[in-house]
Amino acid sequence: MNAYQLVGHLSTFFDRMMTNADLPARLALKFFWGLDDEAYQKFLKQAFMGIPKNFSGRLLEVPVGTGVLSLPMYKKLVDAEIFCLDYSENMLEAAKERAYKMNLRGVNFLQGDVANLPFEDNFFDLILSVNGFHAFLDKIAAWNETYRVLKRGGTFCGCMYVKGENSRTDLFVKEFCDRQGFFYPPHETLTTLKNLLNNKYSRAEVSNVESFAGFVCIK
Ligand SMILES: C[S@@+](CC[C@H](N)C(=O)[O-])C[C@H]1O[C@@H](n2cnc3c(N)ncnc32)[C@H](O)[C@@H]1O
Repeated sequence: MNAYQLVGHLSTFFDRMMTNADLPARLALKFFWGLDDEAYQKFLKQAFMGIPKNFSGRLLEVPVGTGVLSLPMYKKLVDAEIFCLDYSENMLEAAKERAYKMNLRGVNFLQGDVANLPFEDNFFDLILSVNGFHAFLDKIAAWNETYRVLKRGGTFCGCMYVKGENSRTDLFVKEFCDRQGFFYPPHETLTTLKNLLNNKYSRAEVSNVESFAGFVCIK
């Protein structure tokens, strides 16, 4: 988790990577993650496919990181009540600054741990987790807590890394992301993730773009 304190300081580089913004970012996304421009667009669509247009309920995003992917979307959700949580103060500061510059008002930013969410049971209509679960240390608590705070009939959606889809990505994750503390093993495969979500939720759809699994689950 501490690795992201550092990323907060380097958030411009992190954001360029996440948004496929320039040539070095695009080369890295292609080389390490197998995502060319077309696949990157699919990845983005997949990450947010669970959020209905004009969503108007209570939404939790965990982890928000610097908000580089999600905050632009919240500009359109004018009737939603949005809470964004992250463990890293530095990442949160970058997200808050982004929201301020975008003139995005009314989003609640909170520092906290997904393994111990500061909300009552059945509080949210939708929970979004983009690139979160591969980075969480206590994954069981994270699955349980996100489930606990979601209303019955609510949606849990987002995306995460899964192993077994691209051997170069798996090597990169094992030798760099895991070692540096950006990710925490054990990592799910597409099959184990499908089983896990189908056992927990009343309905779960799981897709993938290379090593990124997208999920939309109904409690
Ligand atoms: C790969 S980043 C993803 C951020 C963002 N969703 C995105 O896609 O740009 C992973 C984030 O998980 C956060 N994180 C790691 N462990 C956490 C925990 N236990 N509770 C909340 N956030 C956590 C890190 O601080 C980091 O900001």
